Amino acid sequence: MEKICTLDEFNHRIKKVVITKEEIEEAIQRAGKEISDSYDGRPILLVSILKGAFVFMADLCRAITVPCEIGFMCAKSYYSGTKSSGVVKITMDLDQDLSNYHVIIVEDIVDTGRTLRDIVKLLKARNPLSLRVVTLLDKPDRRLVDFKADIALFTIPDFFVIGYGLDCAEYFRNLPYIAEYNPE
Ligand code: IMP
Repeated sequence: MEKICTLDEFNHRIKKVVITKEEIEEAIQRAGKEISDSYDGRPILLVSILKGAFVFMADLCRAITVPCEIGFMCAKSYYSGTKSSGVVKITMDLDQDLSNYHVIIVEDIVDTGRTLRDIVKLLKARNPLSLRVVTLLDKPDRRLVDFKADIALFTIPDFFVIGYGLDCAEYFRNLPYIAEYNPE
């Protein structure tokens, strides 16, 4: 996609709202409670994968009512052709020693599942006390590898979504809701 020049074009690309701000807030409160109840008193580290999960992380951590730390990492998976096993390149790493924590990966969306499958493998090798994955969105119809998040707040059909941290060509992350992207 070319750089967006006008407000009209920006608005034109937002096809329709599929998950409202209120629905997101409600689901995050539920997930925060579930996490708080199950980790009470244990050392939690929330790990967000940049950039897409930064908004979700900011809201989810404020819905958690027990002590937790946060960490960020930037990772990209590379695949050649149709091969389903990839190489994760960490462009920004965590500074915590995971062996002291119950780690929860906070992700924006599980699509083919390859990025999270690779990141889970990588973080497991660092021997956390436990490791779980919470994702805001899940697109199971697109899955290419066997991967299931422990908590998925919303399951959506196979279309490209934007907003609430998710982008298209770096735009739309600032929308407070999830919308279907209009490619035309
Ligand atoms: P996976 O490895 O195919 O599961 O890809 C996960 C990454 O692809 C996500 O973290 C997103 O950055 C990106 N992605 C997948 N589907 C969408 C979408 O519908 N909108 C925006 N980004 C997406």
